[in-house]
Amino acid sequence: MHNKIQNSSILVTGGAGFIGSYVVEELLKSKPAKIIILDNLIRGSLENMNSFIQNPLVKFIEGDVRDTTLLENCIAGIDYVFHMAALRINACAANPREGFEVMLRSTFNLAELCVKYKVRKVIYSSSASVYGLAQHFPTPETDNPYDNQTFYGGAKLWGEQLFRSFKFTYGLDYVALRYFNVYGSRMDTDGKYTEVMIRWLDCISNGNSPLIYGDGSTSMDFVYVRDVAKANIAALLSEVTDEVFNVGNCEETSLKQLLDALLKVNNSTLIPEFREENTVNPVSRRLADNSKAKRLLNFEPTVTLEEGLTELSQWYFKKKKATEVSI
Ligand SMILES: NC(=O)c1ccc[n+]([C@@H]2O[C@H](COP(=O)([O-])OP(=O)(O)OC[C@H]3O[C@@H](n4cnc5c(N)ncnc54)[C@H](O)[C@@H]3O)[C@@H](O)[C@H]2O)c1
Repeated sequence: MHNKIQNSSILVTGGAGFIGSYVVEELLKSKPAKIIILDNLIRGSLENMNSFIQNPLVKFIEGDVRDTTLLENCIAGIDYVFHMAALRINACAANPREGFEVMLRSTFNLAELCVKYKVRKVIYSSSASVYGLAQHFPTPETDNPYDNQTFYGGAKLWGEQLFRSFKFTYGLDYVALRYFNVYGSRMDTDGKYTEVMIRWLDCISNGNSPLIYGDGSTSMDFVYVRDVAKANIAALLSEVTDEVFNVGNCEETSLKQLLDALLKVNNSTLIPEFREENTVNPVSRRLADNSKAKRLLNFEPTVTLEEGLTELSQWYFKKKKATEVSI
């Protein structure tokens, strides 16, 4: 039987989050029977779900993936699961025990329940963090993960391996997606781990010099959130199983280039200030090789950095203005 969204029941853990909310929006375009969102709102928000929270096909459950009874109630009768609930990399480093409960124990419980309730396929949000500093640029999925030094990267890799072993042992179908640096509207603006782009957008709106720590040569592969949502849909619909895929934009952008692009789309002439880097970044480069996703999932990113940064800037300035007005 082919995978399909129409008339299917789908669980999205972490669906109130940044990427998860876009996945829900994409799913709704194909008329599912129902979508259950399980999210404890530790980072996600009702605001992220504005466009669909009133939709009768969507049931939002404010709860924790660590609550196994609740998780079981959510999974019973479900056809497909997107497992996106996770702690961020710095939160895992700050509290590895909580990281263990959320990223490892809950993912194990989820996989076991997916077997019990014969879920047809799991789409697992993994991360480029599994590579640490990769061996090759562009990085193919075959690069080894031994350079990863983070609890978060290790947990994501373990998740991939867990699903692999459950496919082998129980026949549970899954696809794991290794996202690179996801950005776009609804990304975190005021959390503890505020993204560098948001800091710079604040500088642009306040007229302050944007700061670059280090020489600005650290590079990332910025992939727009709507493209990441589309990769998730492609992973569900395809008959491919037991595979991991990189999801990046396949463009290496240094921090300096990123700032230049952000200044350009905002017509800003601010000059950056460089400051000494106070932490050693063990991952100085990121660049995805997406060719496997193109070949097997027919997935290719479509949003250029300039388009994405324009959309992000418009969203952020509008949000900032609305907050200022309401204060
Ligand atoms: N944003 C990126 O650049 C990126 C890169 C690689 C991988 N990922 C992965 O993609 C997925 C989605 O990331 P995101 O950027 O949307 O992050 P996010 O923090 O916005 O989304 C994660 C969601 O999970 C929820 N959550 C956390 N712990 C929970 C718990 N115990 N129970 C229930 N809900 C819980 C949060 O409230 C949040 O809404 C995550 O698995 C993340 O690790 C993200």
